[in-house]
Amino acid sequence: MAQKVKICETILRDAHQSLIATRMRLDEMLPILPAMDEVGFYSCECWGGATFDACIRFLDEDPWERLRVIRKNMPNTKLQMLFRGQNMLGYRHYADDAVEYFVQKSVDNGIDIIRIFDALNDIRNLETAIKATKKMGAHMQAAISYTTSPVHNVEYFVNYAKQLESAGADSICIKDMAGLINPTVATELVTALKGQLKIPVNLHTHYTSGLASMSCLKAIEAGVDIIDTAMSPLALGTSHPATESMVAALQGTPYDTGLDLKKLDIVRAHFAKLRQKYLDSGLLSPKVMGVDANTLLYQVPGGMLSNLVSQLKQAGKEDQFEDVLKEIPNVRKDSGYPPLVTPTSQIVGTQAVFNVIMGERYKMVTKEFRGLVKGEYGRTPAPISPEFRKQILGDEQPIDCRPADLIAPELDKLRADFPQEYLEQDEDVLTMAMFPQVAPKFFESRKNQKYGVDGKHSDKENKVHPA
Ligand code: CO
Repeated sequence: MAQKVKICETILRDAHQSLIATRMRLDEMLPILPAMDEVGFYSCECWGGATFDACIRFLDEDPWERLRVIRKNMPNTKLQMLFRGQNMLGYRHYADDAVEYFVQKSVDNGIDIIRIFDALNDIRNLETAIKATKKMGAHMQAAISYTTSPVHNVEYFVNYAKQLESAGADSICIKDMAGLINPTVATELVTALKGQLKIPVNLHTHYTSGLASMSCLKAIEAGVDIIDTAMSPLALGTSHPATESMVAALQGTPYDTGLDLKKLDIVRAHFAKLRQKYLDSGLLSPKVMGVDANTLLYQVPGGMLSNLVSQLKQAGKEDQFEDVLKEIPNVRKDSGYPPLVTPTSQIVGTQAVFNVIMGERYKMVTKEFRGLVKGEYGRTPAPISPEFRKQILGDEQPIDCRPADLIAPELDKLRADFPQEYLEQDEDVLTMAMFPQVAPKFFESRKNQKYGVDGKHSDKENKVHPA
């Protein structure tokens, strides 16, 4: 009878990735982890996405160690991560053996739920990760990259979700990274997915356009099983609906989450102090905290708009912003309507900028855009016309197969090439594979000092990891 809505708490991953460029440190999380574990969240998203990159690039933290410490301090909550399919957490396609090994190590170190997505919704880019996750006995959540376009309708998304279910997904996530889904579509899409799938459905949406809590409520009324929220100090703006508000809104209804607002308040108080610290240091900018109405108007992610502004500024062509916004739909149409998410948002955005500032469309074509047209990222949602393909590629042949089929097994080579003086754990090979430019500097620093969870660098011999 009573349908309980489950909460995925995102404050340890997406919320701070969206608001403060992924800069929350382990020592800032650590004191509150036991209280978070007490709340009874369905899951806590705490790893993957950009956290791995930020750990080694900016925070001098071992991401694997972070995961192990969170695991130790939250023994009763499912830990969740975000994973870019064949790209793992890096920026190229990896061979299947590397992807399998990464999944294995993620689960070994404490991950329970792996959410994977592909920017183009090409299921072939997810198959290896799906199989590897199933093999490890973890929960495989497959995400649909949500977008709007003439080909992206309810039927398209349901069809893709059914393929993901058949491939072995344990649940489906509607991943609305730009906050584009509106309450009416949320009702339609969730109703259709719940009618056609046997597995649970999760809505992940951002507050960017100001619609998120309305869309979540409509999705809940249509039967969605799980929603993603963030504790109030790092909610709203480019982040998610506030956990406490959603819990309060559902109390006493058939959708009651069962979570205790008093327990949540203990967690809130901790993050409220951090929020103030981030505001004081300038890390948290008022710019990302309000409603971005341009997102509603142009249907492009908020982050992409700010990238475009800075690219145009560099070229001294800020006055052509409106032209670029009008050009984006044309570039998307030409390239088969890719959803605008990493890395396609950058690829389409940059090409639109070139088309406008060169005064002629595709006079200058970026390497990445050529790769997209060639099929290097996988199959586009709509076919690209042969004429356009010819215009961009010339005589070069497009790729039809799964892109990773062209990559030979690489794990042995990655192991052989790894500088032995840095090796402290098997996982280091994966860190190096994903971030070959940044990892050596991080390893060098780790060799001499160990980042202590008390927030200071301590001598290696004295390193302490609290239980
Ligand atoms: Co997100």
